Amino acid sequence: MGESIVRVAVDADMPGVREVASRFETLDDWTDMPDFLDAERAFGTLVVGEVDGRIVGFGGVLRRGQVSHLGDLYVLPDHQSSGVGRKILDRLLPTGTPRVTFASDDPRALGLYVRQGMRPVCPLLYLTSPPPEDSGSQGAEARGKEAPDEPAARGPVDGPRAEKGEPPGMREAGRLDARLTGGDRTGTLSWYAGLPGVTLHLTGRGYALARLVGEDLEVGPAGGETPQDCADAVLAAVGAHPGVEEVQVAVPGVHPLLPQLLEAGWEIDDMDTFMTTEPGPVWLDRYLPHPDLG
Ligand SMILES: CC(C)(COP(=O)(O)OP(=O)(O)OC[C@H]1O[C@@H](n2cnc3c(N)ncnc32)[C@H](O)[C@@H]1OP(=O)(O)O)[C@@H](O)C(=O)NCCC(=O)NCCS
Repeated sequence: MGESIVRVAVDADMPGVREVASRFETLDDWTDMPDFLDAERAFGTLVVGEVDGRIVGFGGVLRRGQVSHLGDLYVLPDHQSSGVGRKILDRLLPTGTPRVTFASDDPRALGLYVRQGMRPVCPLLYLTSPPPEDSGSQGAEARGKEAPDEPAARGPVDGPRAEKGEPPGMREAGRLDARLTGGDRTGTLSWYAGLPGVTLHLTGRGYALARLVGEDLEVGPAGGETPQDCADAVLAAVGAHPGVEEVQVAVPGVHPLLPQLLEAGWEIDDMDTFMTTEPGPVWLDRYLPHPDLG
């Protein structure tokens, strides 16, 4: 096996990158292009690891102002533990500015990220709503249905006037998102809001992006002025999609929505660890990230 080469991805690398990503099932919810890998290239950096002319791994970062969100780091099983992941990471992550990620439970990932200056701070739990018929009244409320006190979801048409090419309301959502996540990424959010099936929900004190993936709804990123405002925005987005089979959200362990949703019958599907180089960039009690976009 030859020496690995690490470099920034070019167009011709993308089939190889998608092959690696598919191996780890990260493209399951992204059957159409552009996908989040395209977003990493457009709004951050995508680095590949190549051995003997074949893409064997890749890593991706999305930028929010000064903050770098490490979204992906994957190496094919046959090439793991041979230094490729570390080389990709060294090339990908800047030094001296905040870095954050959602680490898997692979000890190599956790170890590499700690040695890159990040520290594990809080679990990030991936929750799924109960099926509609099992929700019961409490479940229905937590899904956002029949909850008269919830603020009405404002569809894209009601947002403030926006610049050309920017979805209405995005300016407002982007400002709050920047405050909650440590840096501006209105470009990334506008791109996401423009994808088929994606809607932006504004409550006046919070925002939530929601995306229909088949029969399911993926909610996030979402945030609010207070933890309750964030919860209201999430529930408004859910309530605006009463017919969906299943709702998926990623909830930081310290967010007050976590006990509420579990109480209402939502289930934990998976778990990562939120890691950061310094305290502060992300308000974990009033923000719900998107699993792939941060
Ligand atoms: C995590 C992953 C990307 C790492 O890439 P890799 O090429 O296998 O890792 P490397 O060989 O470059 O580095 C692994 C490092 O972890 C260290 N390590 C191994 N086991 C460890 C453990 N139990 N505890 C701490 N460190 C450990 C190794 O010593 C090595 O460090 P070194 O190069 O300084 O000696 C890769 O293993 C992978 O794709 N895993 C499955 C997918 C995944 O979970 N990705 C992470 C998503 S957040």
